[in-house]
Amino acid sequence: MKLSAVRSTLRQTKADAVVLFTEQDTKLFAERISPLKKLFGARFGHELELSGFNGKSGECFAWYTDKKISAPQLFLAGLGETASLSTEKYRRAAACAARHAQAFKVKHLAFRLPEKAGAFSYPEIARAASEGVILSLYAYDKYLTEKSAKKPKPAELIIAHEDETVVRDLKRTLNETRIICDATCLARDCENAPGNELHPETFARIAEESAERYGYSTTVWDKDKIESEGFGGLLAVNAGSTRPARFIILEHNADKPELETIVLVGKGITFDAGGISLKPSAGMAEMKMDMSGGAAVLGAMEAAARLKLPVHLVGLIPATENLPGGSAMRPGDVITHYGGKTSEVDNTDAEGRLVLADALGYAATFKPAAVIDLATLTGACVVALGQHATGMMGNDEALMAALKEAGEATYERVWQLPLFEEYEKQIRSDIADVKNVGGRWGGAITAGLFLKKFVGDLHWVHLDIAGTAILEEAKPYAPKGGSGVGVRLLIEFLTRRCRP
Ligand code: BES
Ligand code: MN
Ligand code: ZN
Repeated sequence: MKLSAVRSTLRQTKADAVVLFTEQDTKLFAERISPLKKLFGARFGHELELSGFNGKSGECFAWYTDKKISAPQLFLAGLGETASLSTEKYRRAAACAARHAQAFKVKHLAFRLPEKAGAFSYPEIARAASEGVILSLYAYDKYLTEKSAKKPKPAELIIAHEDETVVRDLKRTLNETRIICDATCLARDCENAPGNELHPETFARIAEESAERYGYSTTVWDKDKIESEGFGGLLAVNAGSTRPARFIILEHNADKPELETIVLVGKGITFDAGGISLKPSAGMAEMKMDMSGGAAVLGAMEAAARLKLPVHLVGLIPATENLPGGSAMRPGDVITHYGGKTSEVDNTDAEGRLVLADALGYAATFKPAAVIDLATLTGACVVALGQHATGMMGNDEALMAALKEAGEATYERVWQLPLFEEYEKQIRSDIADVKNVGGRWGGAITAGLFLKKFVGDLHWVHLDIAGTAILEEAKPYAPKGGSGVGVRLLIEFLTRRCRP
């Protein structure tokens, strides 16, 4: 979809449909509507009343403009009450308008920015609106071979305002939004790709293609290298699979030693059957998305490179399937991880932490200022927080506070869970340094504490995205399936940190 900013009045705006944001407050609603009543006549007022549309968030009203303005259709998109106005309300309003536009087969869709910016700046509104449009129109339809099954999308998104200086300011915002949404959709594509298409080798290939295209670097370790480096966790999880594991290393600004180093680590289990501790078949197909952490890291790397963020950013993705097989790891096995620590495997389905342990240990070799890992790590986190908050744990309160703020800004919200030492005894092992499961209670926390054993003195945050990455039902601007969560969050965090 093409994104453009144009200077124009409501009458002039050239598009197939033009959208006006509409507040729910009685007085503001009336102010917004009264010039439209004058323009379109009494019938407009009647139809609007009949529709019941009153500016409520997430609701829309559509009107054929009868040549009174250049665009043949007008959509009113509800923002809700101004007291609770937020950029998220703009995202949702825009998403609703975008779905309307799609239903009406609109090719060129224009949004008018309000005459007065109010609580949010024009770039903020334009960014939120275009995110709402692009992300809500995403569909994973590459395997639909019947043309009628694919919904056509608008070809152009236009942001319009009367003031030339406002419009000029938007060019940069729209370019950045484009990059961030592309990266989110890349992450969604990787998540939604079936396990027979996206496996460790093809995942690595996608990363290499992105890096080649956008000028950052990749190194992909094959199984021999993974073995010689002593990544015992990744090898153990890979043992039941005939497809070989890969360790994917992505690097942006590797040649700029003056920049701060931040390492992102993403769980890259391209399919998680559970291994010998086999999962039940109901819902197992979702486990093709168990590489969502890796997808978020790849998306964030691509966006950071395209945005030329002044940070030395490293992305680490341990990638493997977790399958049962004649040579699979067994419950009771002991693994030696990168760096020499050992773990006892009590349940082969707690595989994410085993591959992350190696990658977190390896992260230290970059001497980073901060390490952030993202992983669809535990069902327990989904039980605790559902689909609307990512579980956050870590050893650095300031880092977590910064991620919380980035979460509010992007609405990829995070919620902290404790890493109290009392939980540690649940993952004590009699024969190894740590055990990979901690019993029934506090499963997200004991998983976090397992990871903590491998981060040493690094400043570290763990994000459990099991509930937020894999959507069982659609959200306002994310269809069911892979959400691409983490990309916008990480880019917002990084931008605030390195471009203050
Ligand atoms: N990938 C799963 C966690 C998961 C569950 C992600 C549901 C998304 C939705 C992970 O590898 C896993 O199987 N975890 C186990 C851990 C248990 C064996 C301690 C779980 O949560 O049941
Ligand atoms: Mn598992
Ligand atoms: Zn898993």
